[in-house]
Amino acid sequence: MRILGVSGSPRLQATHYVVNYALDYLKERDCEVKYFSVFRKDIKFCIHCDYCVRKREGCIHRDDLGEFYEDLLWADGVIIGTPVYQGNITGQLKTLMDRCRAVVARDPKVLKNKVGTAIAVGGDRNGGQEIALRTIHDFYTINEMIPVGGGSFGANLGSTFWSKDRGREGVEEDEEGWRSLRKTLKRFLDTLESIR
Ligand SMILES: Cc1cc2nc3c(=O)[nH]c(=O)nc-3n(C[C@H](O)[C@H](O)[C@H](O)COP(=O)(O)O)c2cc1C
Repeated sequence: MRILGVSGSPRLQATHYVVNYALDYLKERDCEVKYFSVFRKDIKFCIHCDYCVRKREGCIHRDDLGEFYEDLLWADGVIIGTPVYQGNITGQLKTLMDRCRAVVARDPKVLKNKVGTAIAVGGDRNGGQEIALRTIHDFYTINEMIPVGGGSFGANLGSTFWSKDRGREGVEEDEEGWRSLRKTLKRFLDTLESIR
């Protein structure tokens, strides 16, 4: 199974750490993994020029998302992690999602049945993690992917962390967060295996 992990944080702190933990967990279970972070990446906004729809040759922009597009097409499963910003995903991650219009315009079924799961890291205990997870699940649904949460009694919509605004150190202490991540990863792997 080929898994792409994505971090929507502009730094290498809590989200970077938990997404990489997830990838290591999956690597130990015979998955091939790749990682893409928006950290220091040149990612231009979608400008709604409709080049992608007219030409069906991908996006008009030539920037650091080229690498992400290739990894996304390669993957059977995707894990997107985001810090919570203003009660939702980061602007960088939203731009990355908008720019996926280009790959789907070229081939409308290209993401069909890829499995997706989500991780949200907030500075507050209830800072909007679940709303951020829903935004990521909506992205999967819109693009005909299969959204996977963590199941009831512990992880529900996916994995949520409380960093207390202390980056990697903060999430390291969040026992509930790790429990929700492990539960979510089990569901994610189960789903991937059952549709293989
Ligand atoms: C612009 C901005 C907005 C934020 N908004 C929220 C918020 O609405 N809710 C919350 O819980 N934390 C919020 N935070 C805190 C981050 O989500 C938190 O520090 C998180 O752990 C950062 O993840 P990172 O270490 O992976 O970058 C915000 C941080 C920034 C910079």
